[in-house]
Amino acid sequence: MSSLGQKDLLGIRGMTREQISLVLETASGFKDVLKRDIKKVPALRGRTVFNLFFEPSTRTRTSFELAAKRLSTDVVNFSVPTSSVVKGESLLDTIATIESYGVDYIIIRHASSGVPHFIAQHSDASVLNAGDGINEHPTQALLDAFTIMEHKTQIEGLKIAIVGDILHSRVAKSNIYCLRELGAEVRLIAPPTFVPSHINEEGIDIHYDMDEGLKGADVIMMLRIQRERQGGGFLPSSDEYSRFWGLTRERLNMADPEAIVMHPGPMNRGIEIASEVADDERSVILEQVTNGVAVRMAVIYLLGRSKEKEQ
Ligand code: CP
Repeated sequence: MSSLGQKDLLGIRGMTREQISLVLETASGFKDVLKRDIKKVPALRGRTVFNLFFEPSTRTRTSFELAAKRLSTDVVNFSVPTSSVVKGESLLDTIATIESYGVDYIIIRHASSGVPHFIAQHSDASVLNAGDGINEHPTQALLDAFTIMEHKTQIEGLKIAIVGDILHSRVAKSNIYCLRELGAEVRLIAPPTFVPSHINEEGIDIHYDMDEGLKGADVIMMLRIQRERQGGGFLPSSDEYSRFWGLTRERLNMADPEAIVMHPGPMNRGIEIASEVADDERSVILEQVTNGVAVRMAVIYLLGRSKEKEQ
């Protein structure tokens, strides 16, 4: 297998273990490139990438830009607040305008679930989902899997605890699909209001007691409280949330002594994660950011290979 065999990356749901493994293996090669003095390959020279972010981002937007540049593509960062979107131009007209330039990739983040899928149906470009509403954030899950592999060698059989606002987290959804496909035992730890009602049917362990849920965990993945997606009524107070669901050093001791701590960022220090844990030697949070470039290079490259094979 040398390509993903698909035009777009819209989600992890439906991806096979072989496809995910191909991304991780390809990313490993690109990580070696990123350690060189000249961190660039000519693989996609002449191709064009459009970064289209309708929601704020630090890590995803900049790492997609870096990844595309490291592959020698031309990159356009579309600024929504200074674009004609604010004059009322529709999403489809915006996409048609971008398409007129003959772009090869559209990377999209949007507050509404399903927007990347809609664009993919109306565009010849490869569409990469950089986070859609509460649905999926596939490249985050892939870079998380890559980071876990670097520390634990394999994901099969690992006990991975995902903690916090599962309901509103696209990171959690993509990670659940990805880590289970790779054979991990995924546990969710959250207050009942933050657990999606359908999750029971998926055979995933749910813990409403954090100490209990963390017992023996090999990986702890903390989630940000997604205040921008909550209508209110989910949390009594940040203090109370922190007391019951925040990862402190004492709670970290419940996990396996070799456990690693992850967070997709941005963090609410002192709420879902204590500062001393975020900065602990068991934290791999900045490694996740570093790995985002190699993993996004792999995805862009492999989608390009899929298109070449179609032609
Ligand atoms: N993890 C993540 O999506 O971070 P950004 O919102 O900064 O891109």
